[in-house]
Amino acid sequence: LLVDKGNHRHFMAKEIYEQPETVSHTLSHYVDMSSDKVALREALPFDFATLKRLTISACGTASYAGIVAKYWFERYARLPVDVDVASEFRYREPPLEQGGLSLFISQSGETADTLAALRYCAGQGQHIASLLNSPESTMARESQVVFPTLCGPEIGVASTKAFTAQLTALASLAVAAGVARGTISAQQEAELVHSLTTLPTAISAALALEGQVEDIAKRLSKAKDVLYLGRGQMYPIAMEGALKLKELSYIHAEAYPAGELKHGPIALVDELMPVIVVAPSDELMAKTLSNMQEVAARGGKIILITDEVGKQTVGEGVAEVLVLPKVASFVAPILATIPVQLLAYHTASFMGTDVDQPRNLAKSVTVE
Ligand code: G6P
Repeated sequence: LLVDKGNHRHFMAKEIYEQPETVSHTLSHYVDMSSDKVALREALPFDFATLKRLTISACGTASYAGIVAKYWFERYARLPVDVDVASEFRYREPPLEQGGLSLFISQSGETADTLAALRYCAGQGQHIASLLNSPESTMARESQVVFPTLCGPEIGVASTKAFTAQLTALASLAVAAGVARGTISAQQEAELVHSLTTLPTAISAALALEGQVEDIAKRLSKAKDVLYLGRGQMYPIAMEGALKLKELSYIHAEAYPAGELKHGPIALVDELMPVIVVAPSDELMAKTLSNMQEVAARGGKIILITDEVGKQTVGEGVAEVLVLPKVASFVAPILATIPVQLLAYHTASFMGTDVDQPRNLAKSVTVE
């Protein structure tokens, strides 16, 4: 299989730019675009309607997709979700109820800790489902049902298009679960599915922020530490942003849920500390903005990722605003991923690090 970079300097840039198509392609597997209904093709070995709990395990970026999914399944399907990184989950000996559903998320389908978690759950009599980008993998063979991400081979070590494809599939599955459990109406199903179909165009618009991102990246490249803040379903996107920045640029970055700022990390904030706030307009944005004011009052340099509606409510003290198109808040975490990927990519390529193969990292970690 020959994959080239096309007109891009790195595979990672190419993969970031493929996302309007890879999200659309993945979505077309899970929903019927003409009727705005979910349409799962896989035969399910379990019934969403009677499920008591969903257990999700994954590593790295895939684990953040799992955390976003927790917000979705709990909110739209009222299904309790446990999510943990596989390296912790596998040794915790968590008690699992007979007949529960365990879901494993992995681009490669080969990550050692995720596979061990899968085998543990199989041994505990769980239904085993995987969300994979590699249909020929070990996890695929050991799962009762495989949900695909259809984004093609991902070459860049740091996952980008696989993550947004995982989110797209998980969002569709959460809607399917909500329909089966009677927690969303036919009209809500249509609205949620429709909002997913708006993503490819919105992602293209987000990619057009590149010029502004490059300017910000020049300044970020001089930072020693960067803090990412987000609330609710934006918290895992803040985590993904921090992970991408540290693995690509080797700048220390960490993410915090915005409400926890005052319980510690605010002590670190000074004029030298860029703070990236992921806050598209939603019912939590006002709370995040007030956390942001606490950062501004201490001289922190705020880079706000919001949308056209959120932009109207931004006050003083914000150094930069990256403005996304307004989309339904259900799909906003998928869209907000694009600027955090671009920020990490441009900061790293500005610094001249090996973007596609960062030091010490491997694409697929098949040893513990
Ligand atoms: C490595 C990669 C990450 C990826 C993680 C999980 O650490 O660098 O980008 O998220 O493995 O990989 P998987 O193949 O299980 O999704």
